Amino acid sequence: MWDPKAFVDKSINDLKIKYGDINRVLAAVSGGVDSTTATLITYRALGDKVIPIFIDTGFMRFNEGFRVREMLRDLIPLEVVDMSETFYERIEGLSDAEVKRKAFREVFYKVVSEIANGFGCEYVVQGTIAPDWIETLGGIKTQHNVLSDEFLKRYGFKVIEPLRELYKDQVRAVAKYLGVPNSIIYRQPFPGPGLLVRTVGLFTREKLSIVRDATEIVEKFLQNYSISQYFPAVWEYEISDEGKVCEEVCINYKVFRIKATGVKGDSRVYEPVVLVDDLGGLSPYAVYKYFNNKASHIVWQVVDRGLGKYFISIRAVVTEDFMTADVFNLSRKVLEDLAEELIKINGVRAVGYDVTPKPPATIEYE
Ligand code: XMP
Repeated sequence: MWDPKAFVDKSINDLKIKYGDINRVLAAVSGGVDSTTATLITYRALGDKVIPIFIDTGFMRFNEGFRVREMLRDLIPLEVVDMSETFYERIEGLSDAEVKRKAFREVFYKVVSEIANGFGCEYVVQGTIAPDWIETLGGIKTQHNVLSDEFLKRYGFKVIEPLRELYKDQVRAVAKYLGVPNSIIYRQPFPGPGLLVRTVGLFTREKLSIVRDATEIVEKFLQNYSISQYFPAVWEYEISDEGKVCEEVCINYKVFRIKATGVKGDSRVYEPVVLVDDLGGLSPYAVYKYFNNKASHIVWQVVDRGLGKYFISIRAVVTEDFMTADVFNLSRKVLEDLAEELIKINGVRAVGYDVTPKPPATIEYE
């Protein structure tokens, strides 16, 4: 059995030897289990030389910084720094998923570097874990927190990564040993770029505000089911094509104008989302095949009130490792009740349920 105490003792000792002489270290805490645990170990080793901050990118859930600060109140003094305007100014008007992600990452590390400089910190603590760099090296995806040497040189700080060799279950064991509350240890994952990747297509503040309100509703509504990850995404109700899929039965479909990500083999694809009235007994795979792989997600329409600019898609998946995922089987009644709440948000025309497993869809839309 792997021993979290032995790991913590050794890490604290190593950190003291390696970084005991430096003056100040910045720790960017997101409220996820990885960054929280990495910060806590460093804090135990270096004490108040460590400055834990929560950077509010503007793409967090409602009041997230203050919620995380409360949850960690007995463990670390967390300062919330609101940098949302800097992020919005850079990202407003961008539409392409990868362009938005790259812009987010660029602003994020620029902000980290400026804050680190401001506090006189040469080092920044990061919660990188083994799958992050393994997946990046394997070319599966570029993780937000895996930084190249060139990148680090450009932004002028060095990183301390105490969890670099650990896997998620080991990080959770360490977190438990260190007294991290369960609300953080078992939090559903939240992507680094946050609600940006759920504000699908053109980024506007209005759309972001809708997805933030919808997130509150969906999280409250689905929190007691055993779902690994559940969230809404929003995009414009703009249709580029419509027709009928006829396999054993015929079902009506519409193709949204926006594109979203899917996965094919080891690479990402970027294709439209298809909306179906009713699956009529067909599997989402059959619909997907009908589109000849030229679709990324298949969404089943739950409610359409015929008026309004936006569409909300609910995503709820079960997964062990997040590399593959199945759609959670929510009853029609639960979905209709949830959709009734979501449709009350100003500007929302229709609500659907994403019925695509990963693969061929990804869990997120961008
Ligand atoms: P995908 O969309 O690739 O998501 O099927 C798999 C898991 O990774 C999370 N995810 C991210 N996490 N930074 C993160 O820290 C990111 O940029 C990012 N993108 C996706 C996603 O929420 C899911 O749990």
